[in-house]
Amino acid sequence: MQSYTVQPAKGVRGEIRVPGDKSISHRSIMFGSIANGVTKVSGFLRGEDALATLEAFRAMGVQIDDDGETVTIVGKGLHGLEEPTDVLDCGNSGTSMRLLTGLLAGQSFFSVLSGDKYLRARPMKRVVGPLSKMGARIGGRAGGEKAPLAIQGSQLKGIEYDSPVSSAQVKSAIMLAGLYADGETVVREPHLSRDHSERMLRAFGANVETFPGGVKVRGGAELTGRDIVVPGDISSAAFFMVAALIVPGAELVIRGVGVNPTRTGIIDILKGMGGDLELLNERDETGEPVADIRVRYSQLKAMEISGEVVPRAIDEFPAICVAASLAQGTTVVRGASELRVKETDRIAAMADNLKRAGVSVVETPDGMEITGVPALKACAADSFGDHRIAMSMMVAGLVAQGETTISDVDCIATSFPGFRELLEGVVQR
Ligand code: S3P
Repeated sequence: MQSYTVQPAKGVRGEIRVPGDKSISHRSIMFGSIANGVTKVSGFLRGEDALATLEAFRAMGVQIDDDGETVTIVGKGLHGLEEPTDVLDCGNSGTSMRLLTGLLAGQSFFSVLSGDKYLRARPMKRVVGPLSKMGARIGGRAGGEKAPLAIQGSQLKGIEYDSPVSSAQVKSAIMLAGLYADGETVVREPHLSRDHSERMLRAFGANVETFPGGVKVRGGAELTGRDIVVPGDISSAAFFMVAALIVPGAELVIRGVGVNPTRTGIIDILKGMGGDLELLNERDETGEPVADIRVRYSQLKAMEISGEVVPRAIDEFPAICVAASLAQGTTVVRGASELRVKETDRIAAMADNLKRAGVSVVETPDGMEITGVPALKACAADSFGDHRIAMSMMVAGLVAQGETTISDVDCIATSFPGFRELLEGVVQR
């Protein structure tokens, strides 16, 4: 396990692109595989998580070729997947495991999903519960709460489900099962989570209808392959937005970032903190809004973060915590208990690391209170095996008084291969 040492920065300047969106990359493989005809994907994220999904579909007989530019999927149709001869390894990827669970529940074969020690510790009942109501036969450790999950495909029936959590993984897993179910499947959620499944499934020809508060899927519709352009991942861009906001004098342009409104909570929050962020060249690429984002150093102020913005920024909280650590006043985060069941407990992990950097942090069950300081202390930080914690602390290290060492940074490869090089390329020392 590699550690990494970051030196403080004198400036941050340049123009960059970040790798493709992780959520959209997963979905392009999944939907392309069960469509009729060919799907060509450009901008696909070659991170470990999305590659785990790609390998899972290869293991179910789907021909997927990658020439380094374009990923080409020869779809097998709704009922063309084959029984895998071995366990499907989802690695660290919750999206792979939860969406596949929904998709596999309606097949005519048996399959087993597993993953690394972090993924095997994460809650799966949130998908196994509603899928069981649809008639799915799924077993797992701890009464179906933990992976490995064993799935005996069966005929499903549509349900109406009120999800207690705003989770795109839960919503998408039920929607995918709904493609195979008799009748109509309805999912409602407290606040709207990312809607990439809704957009992309509709573009593939599925019978998907959205309404305020939820989504409705009618089973049986055949999907048709299509070309997909994956935009840059706003969750990856977030680290660079925060870096440019906190390093004095910084100015950065991040080109081609996905700015789907269900994902732009990070921009709303950072602007609310007084951040100078501007969206340029707003456009649409295969059904997803895209823009270039210009960010300039800003004196940040604390704010309260809660409610509907939380699911729209759910993966960006580690980076937001770093911004809050340099803001004037106390930032209060509420209604974010989902952070406790991510790749690691991100509330505990960021509280621990920021305290090491001299920040006063109070943990609450569903959030935290962070009181900003003028400068961070040099420290030894721990990634806790979580890519986003590792990258956040590397950004924090840019404004520390001395060296910051982050342990176990190999996990960054799950979502952002090339992060270190891209960061070092815009940092001035
Ligand atoms: C994702 C949904 C979110 C997010 C994850 C990707 C997706 O998880 O944290 O990184 O692609 O659907 P939840 O659905 O658990 O909130």
